[in-house]
Amino acid sequence: MIPVNTPARATPTIESVQATLPEAPGPAGPAPADAREPLFVARGLGKVYRSGEIEVVALHDVDLDVRRGEFIVLLGPSGSGKSTLLNILGGLDAPSSGDVRFEDHPLTGASDAELTAYRREHVGFVFQFYNLIPSLTVRENVALVTDIARDPMPVDEAIDLVGLTPRRDHFPAQLSGGEQQRVAIARAIVKRPQVLLCDEPTGALDYRTGKLVLEVIARINAELGTTAIVITHNAAIAGMADRVVYLGDGTIQRITSNATKLAPSELSW
Ligand SMILES: Nc1ncnc2c1ncn2[C@@H]1O[C@H](COP(=O)(O)OP(=O)(O)O)[C@@H](O)[C@H]1O
Ligand SMILES: [Mg+2]
Repeated sequence: MIPVNTPARATPTIESVQATLPEAPGPAGPAPADAREPLFVARGLGKVYRSGEIEVVALHDVDLDVRRGEFIVLLGPSGSGKSTLLNILGGLDAPSSGDVRFEDHPLTGASDAELTAYRREHVGFVFQFYNLIPSLTVRENVALVTDIARDPMPVDEAIDLVGLTPRRDHFPAQLSGGEQQRVAIARAIVKRPQVLLCDEPTGALDYRTGKLVLEVIARINAELGTTAIVITHNAAIAGMADRVVYLGDGTIQRITSNATKLAPSELSW
């Protein structure tokens, strides 16, 4: 028989038992109930695209909770369903099956008008391409959004958060790709959305400008507490997340947590 190596066990003392108990709540007490409520709850999400005879299963049986203030990186190969999942969370697309809710609002079964209101009030989107209006300056591009927002921040504050104050009177054609993406981020956050959804925000950028853009997203998450979900196929970016959701073939393959988040400047790829 193979001897089992049992470590010598000391008689438990009060201190050693206490050390294994969960920590008592700090002076602030338990967090308010709504802070522990997830921002998104998705259950059994599926998405099938049909064109004629052809069916593509883009998502299958996805369960995901996203907590308030979390920084999530969605990682997976091309075609794994990342954009489909992000678009469903952002109310741009509807699932074929399953349920998803944002706070108390069910997004499944919502009308187009309800989804439009949801996107306008709560969601900031950033895509790979910046979609700025070429004939408008940085300030004017960002200011466009504040007309329809309920409680926008001052335009110059949003521009300052993305580090573009010296460029605020420039036109998009006078800016680098990374700077244009930062304008797009300012435009996404000026309405103070609860969630910032970014689909390959650095996909068209070189290494150095890509990092600057990630730094801006990390800063918004840290300073404004905006929940951020960022799609990438660059595994190195995973280090800046609270949690990393790995998608493959339309399903969640695994979810990992980072005990400490790295600053984008600490990442290398
Ligand atoms: N509008 C669409 N019509 C048909 N198939 C689609 C559509 N959008 C995405 N798909 C398919 O769904 C799958 C997942 O796509 P997507 O969510 O864009 O993946 P990812 O963002 O991870 O690259 C792919 O096979 C893709 O071709
Ligand atoms: Mg995609």
